[in-house]
Amino acid sequence: MIKAVTGAKDILPNDIPKWYFIEELIRNFFSNYNYKEIRTPIFEETAVFSRAIGEETDIVSKEMYTFVDRSETSITLKPEMTAAVVRAYIEHSLGNLQSLNKLFYISPMFRQERPQAGRLRQFHQFGAEAIGGLSPLLDAEIIIIAYSIIQKLGLKEFVLKINSLGIPESREKYKVILGDYLKNHFDELSEESKKRFHKNILRIFDSKSPEDQEILKNAPYLINHLDENSIEHFNIVKTILDNNKIPYEVDPALVRGLDYYTHTTFEIVSGSVGSQSALCGGGRYDNLIEQLGGKPTPGVGFAAGIERLILAMENEAVPFNEPSPLDVFFVLLDKDKYLLIPKFANLLRNVGLKVEHDYLQRSIKAQMREANREKTKFVVFVGGDEFTRNLFTVKNMSDGVQTEIPIEDSLSSLITMIKGN
Ligand code: HAM
Repeated sequence: MIKAVTGAKDILPNDIPKWYFIEELIRNFFSNYNYKEIRTPIFEETAVFSRAIGEETDIVSKEMYTFVDRSETSITLKPEMTAAVVRAYIEHSLGNLQSLNKLFYISPMFRQERPQAGRLRQFHQFGAEAIGGLSPLLDAEIIIIAYSIIQKLGLKEFVLKINSLGIPESREKYKVILGDYLKNHFDELSEESKKRFHKNILRIFDSKSPEDQEILKNAPYLINHLDENSIEHFNIVKTILDNNKIPYEVDPALVRGLDYYTHTTFEIVSGSVGSQSALCGGGRYDNLIEQLGGKPTPGVGFAAGIERLILAMENEAVPFNEPSPLDVFFVLLDKDKYLLIPKFANLLRNVGLKVEHDYLQRSIKAQMREANREKTKFVVFVGGDEFTRNLFTVKNMSDGVQTEIPIEDSLSSLITMIKGN
């Protein structure tokens, strides 16, 4: 049997209402905060991601879907959106049109990770990027949007963790201090952390190994080695969160797996989805635009994984909006009248009603079963003795009451009945 590729999932019709529910909420939220949607291609030249995310990160070194196309260009399916949005921002000089661009997106992403619950190889993110402002108001706004969307979805078991990575200069000085500390424990570190020690020392904080965690307990933290401006920036972000009654934990070990961050970083972690617990992550990236060839321009953003949000909602038994029921189902009583039905059904559909009928020559009983399965509001019977008297019988499915209506003004009668229901 031909199956979907490992880690890529079909979203079947029964699950689509969950996606509509989340997508509609997201669009409303971003509209209220005046973020404009941006859509970028599914693939980019590989350098967009390798230069932005960092060669030594897990994403670039082991997870990207990269291939050489027929014109010998190295192409990568997007593993995240920030680099792609920044590429588009520079290419179309969006900064010339307005000094601050508040952008949002909903898009599939691709990472060749080991699939498990909440971790896929094709997954979907929504997120936002505010490009062009240094103000901590923007860091706080991004965090507040992420937090509020998750709260509005009905989730309860989640925690917001924030940290500051400061500026590259203080981070470089700190890496030496951290290196000095870890050198003394080098032999006790896990193999993975030994590798990270040389390649990307901050990522040792992401280690799950209990031995590493024990060593890290007494490690110096970057947050205690920030410059004055970074401390001030972080304090303002925290004050705005406090003023907005957004609870958070400062987690000095939160380093994030992408290299472009400066100043604020954050994650929202769920208590209900198992080991893949990060519902969303983000932060400030003041050097990325310049790094990708643009004018020095600051930015801040976040992205959330939609599959993980759905998993968390299912695990916390949060209700999704039910799909809307059918307004009308035409049940055919006399088989020879079947050609009449599309005309009546389409008239109603054209005025905005949700209408269905039978296409499979099913028995009256089977048609009624179908109408019930679709939670139909009104069944219209076509045929029988009433039809010869130019009438339709209409059954209100909620109370079982049947009414006869003249066929020639059935459209207006049905609209009145449905509106009054
Ligand atoms: P990220 O932390 O790599 O950040 O991903 C954001 C979210 O995407 C994660 O918290 C998780 O919910 C979801 N996610 C990541 N990988 C997978 C996967 N394999 N399967 C399912 N869900 C996944 C970024 O992507 C940054 N671009 C965020 C950002 C925007 N920073 C600034 N602006």
